[in-house]
Amino acid sequence: MEIRRSIAEAKEIFYRLHRHPELSGQEFKTTEYIKQVLSDNDIPVYPLSLNTGLVAHLGCGKPVVAFRCDIDALPMTEESGLAYASEYPGRMHACGHDFHTASLLGIALTLRNCLPLQGTVKLIFQPEEENMAGARQVLQTGILDDVEVIFGLHCCAAYPKGTVISRPGFMNGAVDEFHIDFYGNGAHACRPHQSADPIIMIASFVQEAQTIVSRNTAPFHPVVVGITRIGSGTAKNIIPETGFVEGTVRSLYPEDRRMIKERIFCLAGGIAANYGGKADIGFVEGPPATNNEASWVALAEKIADEQGLPFTKAPDSLSGEDFAFYQQKIPGAFIQIGTGIGPMMHNPAFRADPDTLNDAIPFGVALVKAALVALR
Ligand code: NI
Repeated sequence: MEIRRSIAEAKEIFYRLHRHPELSGQEFKTTEYIKQVLSDNDIPVYPLSLNTGLVAHLGCGKPVVAFRCDIDALPMTEESGLAYASEYPGRMHACGHDFHTASLLGIALTLRNCLPLQGTVKLIFQPEEENMAGARQVLQTGILDDVEVIFGLHCCAAYPKGTVISRPGFMNGAVDEFHIDFYGNGAHACRPHQSADPIIMIASFVQEAQTIVSRNTAPFHPVVVGITRIGSGTAKNIIPETGFVEGTVRSLYPEDRRMIKERIFCLAGGIAANYGGKADIGFVEGPPATNNEASWVALAEKIADEQGLPFTKAPDSLSGEDFAFYQQKIPGAFIQIGTGIGPMMHNPAFRADPDTLNDAIPFGVALVKAALVALR
């Protein structure tokens, strides 16, 4: 009975969050709203120095289990046609973070009625997932230092409602990004001998960067070196002074990450020098690969089974997920739940079926309780 009430409330929360999406780092009203729901239900929030987002808790003492959701939306205009679509052009919950937040609040409301718990549950309402900054902010507060296992839940539009998806080991890829400015020497196009041409540097880099995967990476290691943006020049008869190259790097293994970064610096620097120019290389290290501990995935599978939810092994993917930052310090599992097959996440027509909360909330509650027992 109680859980049904929590699910009904979570659905209302979901509609409201979906109508009022906020972008990464600007989740002020979302944070206030979550705090309100928690305080209405006597669920305490830790006083932390987070700009947006928050961590709440239930129960006390050891063991300590954490459950994380993310709360931010994407800078895109919704075209879902839903009655509860975003009220703001250029902002949309197109990755289901509203669904995650509603799920975790539903889990919290249900657990609130199960007190006393056999330990502590920390509920992480994480900001800034889409720009991959939020997990590090939460970790920096130190509030997770005593957490023994962490779970994260994400919706997935590639599976029927209620399918539980995970896998032991790597589930998402590490995400790094680079931006290289090549500085040459401009000239009239008819006097190329007086120039150091950045367009030649860019062209060489685009070609030579392909050898990082084909010649430097072990053939059994998945790696992407993607050059996704280049730019230079203003007119047909001018050799420009500068140009740039941008791209993304995806990988699983830390040694590949290190090697790729080294090769990018080496190639860009070498090419620039070869053609009489200079390279200024910016390299931003994002999250590592999510890395699930087998025993916690097995527990998730067991709970899915007990709840009558189909469990399936997650497919290979090099998409990024900042939950991986938590897993560098805390063992745990990242889990997806099917929210009905349809347009994928980050698509303007994406929709997460709110009826999936009927599955996600009991699943989350049972998982957290089983983890507390397992850690005893
Ligand atoms: Ni997401």
